[in-house]
Amino acid sequence: MKSTVLDHPLAAAHLTELRDESTTTPRFRQRVDGLARALAWEAARYLATEECTVTTPVADAQGVRLSGAPPVLVPVLRAGVWMVDGALSIVPDADVAFVGLARDEATLRAVTYLDKLPADVDHRDVWILDPMLATGGSLVAVAEMLATRRPGPVTVLSLLAAPEGLLRLREEPACDDWHVVCASIDEGLNEKGFIVPGLGDAGDRLSG
Ligand code: PRP
Repeated sequence: MKSTVLDHPLAAAHLTELRDESTTTPRFRQRVDGLARALAWEAARYLATEECTVTTPVADAQGVRLSGAPPVLVPVLRAGVWMVDGALSIVPDADVAFVGLARDEATLRAVTYLDKLPADVDHRDVWILDPMLATGGSLVAVAEMLATRRPGPVTVLSLLAAPEGLLRLREEPACDDWHVVCASIDEGLNEKGFIVPGLGDAGDRLSG
């Protein structure tokens, strides 16, 4: 499992607004959308491409285009749904397969309430959209759902990750080849499983 942290001043500025408790819900949604686009650009770096030739108004030009099937976006409800438009703006041909997970606030265990993954992903790229990677329990649950669906390369697009969650994914054999792309790796988790300093409960702040 490898991880990449976005290195861009505008991404850092977006994240700072998200962290600010005075940021309004409309602004929070807008900044999540902006960061989802930035995360998608980074994730798209690893999609397969092929060389091609196009004709400009002036001459032929050598270029590249995406090859193979577009990725399957897997937004984790609720909060991940707010990253769908941003990711689709980068890969408009992608399919979208929703999964629903909620953390039990007492045990911090992820409980699955929706699984709309296709029966066979047919080795296509999978982009999991979830703003927060805290204990990692939700993503391990997604890995269990994916296990029988023949996924291709799996990339997680998260705004924030906690070291504890990244360690959990590193220890999970099903996540061996995964790539986590995020805007920050924060200090850690508090006793309630919240990322510190974090940005609070993304789902609540997005839903209003
Ligand atoms: C949050 C977040 C992730 C999950 C991360 O969702 O959006 O899905 O917790 O925590 P974990 O890494 O410890 O599993 P939550 O369960 O609060 O649901 P919501 O998106 O509906 O608010």
